[in-house]
Amino acid sequence: MKKLLFPFLALILLGFACRNQENKAKEKQYSEADLQLLEKATTYFSKLPEPKDPTSPLALLGKKLYYEESVSANGKMSCNTCHPISTYGVDNLPTSPGHDGRRGTRNSPTTFNAYFHVAQFWDGRSPDLADQAKGPILNPI
Ligand code: HEC
Repeated sequence: MKKLLFPFLALILLGFACRNQENKAKEKQYSEADLQLLEKATTYFSKLPEPKDPTSPLALLGKKLYYEESVSANGKMSCNTCHPISTYGVDNLPTSPGHDGRRGTRNSPTTFNAYFHVAQFWDGRSPDLADQAKGPILNPI
């Protein structure tokens, strides 16, 4: 039994030593410049709040409306046309095409976390989402 105990203890110690090395390497990943940038960024950004219940009736209604095509003039476009969830809320086009193929003058920003923006649209002309929501529906293009 004693013969087995020593190799067993040695293995455990070796495991700890390796883990310590890994942690040191991770700590070294950040240069002084990285840390300064991180500190600066935290003055502009903070941790997002925990998401609310995605199965709540309000969340489910929002999701349904996001994909609703009957809100468009041609009955074929939804929010997801220009802000596809599958590509992080952007269509990756220079400008987004409207219901008759005509193009608008700007590209679509992401809708992800838009609720937290200090203002809406590229020029910030809309103060919040409630005001912004009139834009896409009433836009002639
Ligand atoms: C035809 C393409 C198109 C459709 C459809 C569309 N959007 Fe947009 N969306 C845009 C463009 C382009 C902008 C930027 C316009 C600007 O800055 O003047 C924008 C801006 C936004 C913004 C502002 C985001 C930010 O970072 O400022 C939000 C939020 C948004 N749209 C949500 C929606 C929702 C919700 C719908 C569905 C009701 C929708 N959009 C439908 C093209 C579209």
